[in-house]
Amino acid sequence: METIKVMVEKRLLPSILNADFWKLGELVEATLRGGADGLHMDVMDGHFVPNLTFGASVVGAVSRRVNTFIDSHLMIENPTAYIPEFVKNGSNAVSVHWETERHLHRTVSLIKELDSQAGVVVNPATPVEFLRDILPFVDYVLVMSVNPGFGGQKFIPTALGKIERLKNLLVELGLEDRVAVEVDGGIKLHNVEDVLKAGADWIVVGSAIFSSDDPVEVEDNTKRFKEIISKYT
Ligand code: DX5
Ligand code: ZN
Repeated sequence: METIKVMVEKRLLPSILNADFWKLGELVEATLRGGADGLHMDVMDGHFVPNLTFGASVVGAVSRRVNTFIDSHLMIENPTAYIPEFVKNGSNAVSVHWETERHLHRTVSLIKELDSQAGVVVNPATPVEFLRDILPFVDYVLVMSVNPGFGGQKFIPTALGKIERLKNLLVELGLEDRVAVEVDGGIKLHNVEDVLKAGADWIVVGSAIFSSDDPVEVEDNTKRFKEIISKYT
């Protein structure tokens, strides 16, 4: 019998939010040369979060040029209405915030029907225990370690205990080999090992990779995170 593919491998997913958009293409390519396992696309609508970024067309512009895993993080109200557009524009994974969707099972089912990986996101104040009954249906959970809306914020240390609690919940439900734990916000070279030790699988890094508009520096930043993460595979 074919064993279930353990999709829960360690991944480094640079967030393009803080990249110099004038040079986005070459900076994205620099992260991929540096070993990035995909890209994290921070979609914001100025309502759910106090910032406005980009929509499905930018995701499409990137996904048509690079052959990599595209992880779209929807920090928007009424995300369900926009999911088909993000999948059509190349999102291999789409995550929606628990705080934005009352019919989460229907939303997660829609993402999977569209052959994309389905993720649910929790803000710092939202207990992971609220996700217990949706966990069997998702492919990953995104634990926010900052309040969503901006790159360059400080890591909220209580996220570490939350990651551990989520991991324990997944083990209790027998889902630890099927549901990845993604962590997003304030991750730097000095704390990424704490996040990995707590049980994180997919690591989102924004400003610590896109700290410059120099592709060589961006590639080097990516390599340094990748080296650390590779020690935990
Ligand atoms: C915040 C976004 C994060 C953020 C990460 O709302 O979801 O992805 O851009 O950026 P850093 O790594 O700078 O915190
Ligand atoms: Zn994000």
